Amino acid sequence: MHTQLFTIIFFAFATLFSNVFGAPIETRDVFIPPILYPHAGTVWFVGQFHNVTWDTSNRPAQITNSIGMIVLAKGGIIVSGVGGLNHPLASNFSILDGRHEVHVPNVKPGKDYAVVLFGDSGNISPDFTIKK
Ligand SMILES: *[C@@H]1O[C@H](CO)[C@@H](O)[C@H](O)[C@H]1NC(C)=O
Ligand SMILES: *[C@@H]1O[C@H](CO)[C@@H](O)[C@H](O)[C@H]1NC(C)=O
Repeated sequence: MHTQLFTIIFFAFATLFSNVFGAPIETRDVFIPPILYPHAGTVWFVGQFHNVTWDTSNRPAQITNSIGMIVLAKGGIIVSGVGGLNHPLASNFSILDGRHEVHVPNVKPGKDYAVVLFGDSGNISPDFTIKK
């Protein structure tokens, strides 16, 4: 009886781990799309709309997660309020689109903002400025 339970648990974990770590790292296609806009020198004003754009030309034939999300970071750290993981600037779009429109949230002004694009992998823009 105990052996059977152990076997079930063992196989549950084995399945879990092979799902997470199954693909050998060297055969996994990782798509890290460089963010083209915003770039260093970009100034956004609160309330404006802008298209975040990224380069999709180096995409592998097969990508594992094409659903994208864009969040805001300040000082290299993802913000905790609006624009952060719970209230992303954009989500549920294809990272193969190469662009997505975002609304600049009402955050405090700063010169150390960046956008982070999540999808098959993640990438972060250079620091840019948000003003009121
Ligand atoms: C973003 O790009 C789309 C598609 O080209 C365009 O229709 C839209 O006006 C752009 N938005 C801004 C804020 O430039
Ligand atoms: C994501 O987008 C798809 C296709 O546009 C849509 O069917 C789905 O409901 C969306 N999911 C969420 C959570 O918005």
